[in-house]
Amino acid sequence: MRRDVRILLLGEAQVGKTSLILALVGEEFPQEVPARAEEITIPADVTPERVPTHIVDSSEAEQTAEELQEEIRKANVVCMVYDVSEEATIEKIRTKWIPLVNAETERGPRLPIILVGNKSDLRPGSSLEAVLPIMSQFPEIETCVECSAKSLRNVSELFYYAQKAVLHPTAPLYDTEAKQLRPACVRALTRVFTLWDQDLDQVLSDEELNAFQVRIASCFGRPLAPQALEDVKMVVCRNVASGVRDDGLTLDGFLFLNTLFVQRGRHETTWTILRHCGYGDDLQLTNDYLFPPLPVPPGCSTELSHLGHQFVQRAFEKHDQDQDGALSPAELHSLFSVFPEAPWGPGFPGSIRTEAGHLGLRGYLCQWALVTYLDVRRCLGHLGYLGYPTLCGPHSQAQAITVTREKRLDQEKGQTQRNVLLCKVLGAAGVGKSAFLQAFLGRGLGHPEIPKEPPAYAVDIVQVHGQDKYLILCEVSSESPLDASCDVACLLFDSSDPVSFAHCAHLYKHHYMDGQTPCLFICSKADLLGGAAGPGVAPAEFCRRHRLPAPTPFSCAGPGPPNPAAFSQLAIMATFPHLLQAEPGPSCRWLRDLLCIVGAAMVAVLGFSLFRVLRSR
Ligand code: GTP
Ligand code: MG
Repeated sequence: MRRDVRILLLGEAQVGKTSLILALVGEEFPQEVPARAEEITIPADVTPERVPTHIVDSSEAEQTAEELQEEIRKANVVCMVYDVSEEATIEKIRTKWIPLVNAETERGPRLPIILVGNKSDLRPGSSLEAVLPIMSQFPEIETCVECSAKSLRNVSELFYYAQKAVLHPTAPLYDTEAKQLRPACVRALTRVFTLWDQDLDQVLSDEELNAFQVRIASCFGRPLAPQALEDVKMVVCRNVASGVRDDGLTLDGFLFLNTLFVQRGRHETTWTILRHCGYGDDLQLTNDYLFPPLPVPPGCSTELSHLGHQFVQRAFEKHDQDQDGALSPAELHSLFSVFPEAPWGPGFPGSIRTEAGHLGLRGYLCQWALVTYLDVRRCLGHLGYLGYPTLCGPHSQAQAITVTREKRLDQEKGQTQRNVLLCKVLGAAGVGKSAFLQAFLGRGLGHPEIPKEPPAYAVDIVQVHGQDKYLILCEVSSESPLDASCDVACLLFDSSDPVSFAHCAHLYKHHYMDGQTPCLFICSKADLLGGAAGPGVAPAEFCRRHRLPAPTPFSCAGPGPPNPAAFSQLAIMATFPHLLQAEPGPSCRWLRDLLCIVGAAMVAVLGFSLFRVLRSR
């Protein structure tokens, strides 16, 4: 909404422009007036809409044509004054003044116009008959008001209408010719309706209507009385047969109500609803609404806060209409209906777990964790589209985000409070990085849900010490320049290709050896070894010399889901980086034990695979 309003008075000489301004300011009819009043500014707190308002007089006798044009360009609204007792001054509005204003605003949107019939004290009847054809010819005319500077009739009202025409314009909402709401307005109101239809039954129940009423309290003040609710529904029912269903207001009914507001000159009500739900004058969600400020200092990461989790989980539950704990494609479509386009891009859902094309809560939360971590601005926008500030106000969606402390402090303190951890997966071309990422999501080789274009990320929830951690695996191509920063590095080499190990050793020496990031070597395609020789002496010896955990064999071949032990190990190392850097002491003996258990599990799995291979032969 505009922060100030500039009102310009135009019209023939002697119609009373200057008198109207001075009557407003002095609250009495000025007997003597100058040709042109000085510009006056009415402070915000004495105007009905609480915005500073400038009122500007004009006089053809005092101003050149250029000066007048300049004033038209600066104005937000024009009051076109005529003398109700002089028909010729009305005619001049049509033939001279409106064309003059429109010529100045040819390129941009039209300036709203208020027709002002002054000197009503001189004429008993109304001038409306003469004015109506002009009003229907020019849709930019917001309204018409008859007044008298002499008797002070309607003087303050005309300035109020002018202010309202700027702050709550009709044009973006309503097509006066077609006598209906404009498509952009219908789209915006439909989104508002969907946000407030908590149970998605396509009607706003009394309870939902009251929640709506209370939340947008700055306008309406308090919940509707039960009788008022009934009255509203009655009015809707009488006018639109499909407006009320099961004692609730349908979308048709909601749109009808807003049409009624506009038609009755109460369009500020519709504007209040739309502004509260984030819309600007162009009926698009504003950047202020979508992207509230959220400073993220270098070295810090972003995660959903407890409130953020609650909010996105509620959205999931709302759209999981059959309550089977997963969103079907249709349910997902309904979730996305409040977004201008599918929010998670063409790669979705390749980076998360899905269950036969359905999105479970686990995968859904992982997707949020990924977006929040990688692009918090986008995440704020998504929360905005889902109505966070509207439904959870008065706070912005910045409350839904936790900015973690700097990584340097984590390293100094030897522990992290982060719940979302980043693991970079590095290795030569063809070692199986993409397969490793998909295996993390439970998809072994040949799994039907493996995407054709392997995404660069895979996210899942991994338990560390009974706590849920979101682990993001990020595949780093061997060709692109390496940004080595992450919580844990996973160096992948092919058990059957010694060159690929040399590549990992090189990466380790150049990027991680002198840093504090824990590293895990993974020996991929372990099934090709037939479970026999392990990754070979060189890798094991290399790790021993650098006091790294021994290379972990890994395979994503085989009938069942891939073994998750390597991923648990990565999550543990990311959560407790210092423990692995130090010489194993009493405090981290548990970890060594754990790694032994993990190792034993791997051996068992490999043994079992070998057994199967031998049996099949
Ligand atoms: P210019 O500056 O020449 O363009 O004229 P203006 O539109 O500013 O008109 P102004 O306010 O100077 O008023 C013109 C004459 O009309 C003055 O004699 C006023 O006293 C008189 N007048 C203004 N408003 C009213 C009104 O409401 N009723 C009556 N009866 N006379 C009015
Ligand atoms: Mg004047």
